[in-house]
Amino acid sequence: MGRLDGKIAWVTGAGSGIGAATARLFAREGAIVAVNDLNEAGGKQVVDEIRKAGGRADFILGSVTDKETIQQVVERLASQYGRLDILVNNAGVLRDAMMAKMTEEQWDTVINTHLKGSWLCAKAALEVMKDQGSGVITNTSSTSARGNIGQVNYSTAKAGIWGLTKTLALEYGRYGIRVNAVAPGFIATPMTEQIPDQLKERAIAAIPLRKIGQPEDVANLHLFLASDEAAYITGQIIYVDGGVKI
Ligand SMILES: NC(=O)c1ccc[n+]([C@@H]2O[C@H](COP(=O)([O-])OP(=O)(O)OC[C@H]3O[C@@H](n4cnc5c(N)ncnc54)[C@H](O)[C@@H]3O)[C@@H](O)[C@H]2O)c1
Repeated sequence: MGRLDGKIAWVTGAGSGIGAATARLFAREGAIVAVNDLNEAGGKQVVDEIRKAGGRADFILGSVTDKETIQQVVERLASQYGRLDILVNNAGVLRDAMMAKMTEEQWDTVINTHLKGSWLCAKAALEVMKDQGSGVITNTSSTSARGNIGQVNYSTAKAGIWGLTKTLALEYGRYGIRVNAVAPGFIATPMTEQIPDQLKERAIAAIPLRKIGQPEDVANLHLFLASDEAAYITGQIIYVDGGVKI
């Protein structure tokens, strides 16, 4: 018996890193997964891997900032399965720069992808979830929500995820819908692989568990929050950061 048997799940940014690990884990636990990403090669590879392992998944190409893509995902799931049980808002990008040098394009790209994208996907998913009287959304914040030099766009978006998560939990609890967020620290994915070794070593020294996290460490929390084991947990921001405190 899988922990998500028969559940229909939509994972954004599932073609890489944490999203890919989450999609694979959800499928292993019995969910049917809509793997959504801008990156066609990555997304299709994740779907192939899931199918080869005996799981069920479909790839849906498109951006979380694009209402048409979002509508397509929801319509496809509604027509194929008649329901949507889980949304994992995971898609993300970095456009780091110090405040003085940050362009409006860098600000908009990051705010639109993380914050507006999560809001748009949640809005579409909640319509279906409200009608069916159940559902789970897990958003993605970050330890950077507490402030991080060179990331005013990203920190602001990830802090905004707090408000999104807590407000949706308050508004939708009465409909049997739970909304939480994971807040990863330093996780080994393509997003962080460009960080120079010297900076990585400094970061590891400041992590009480003295190591960088793996995508599966975050996927495991997404799984717990999406599962019925978390049936009485909503409105929470939960850190997966090796114990970092800043
Ligand atoms: N890796 C870390 O250390 C870390 C730490 C804290 C938070 N996070 C967050 O975790 C999430 C996943 O990050 P990751 O490290 O796996 O990154 P990643 O770069 O490996 O994967 C992100 C995926 O999102 C996709 N994506 C980007 N913009 C998109 C859009 N508009 N629509 C659809 N898909 C889009 C990318 O194509 C990519 O496949 C992000 O929200 C990130 O901010 C990561």
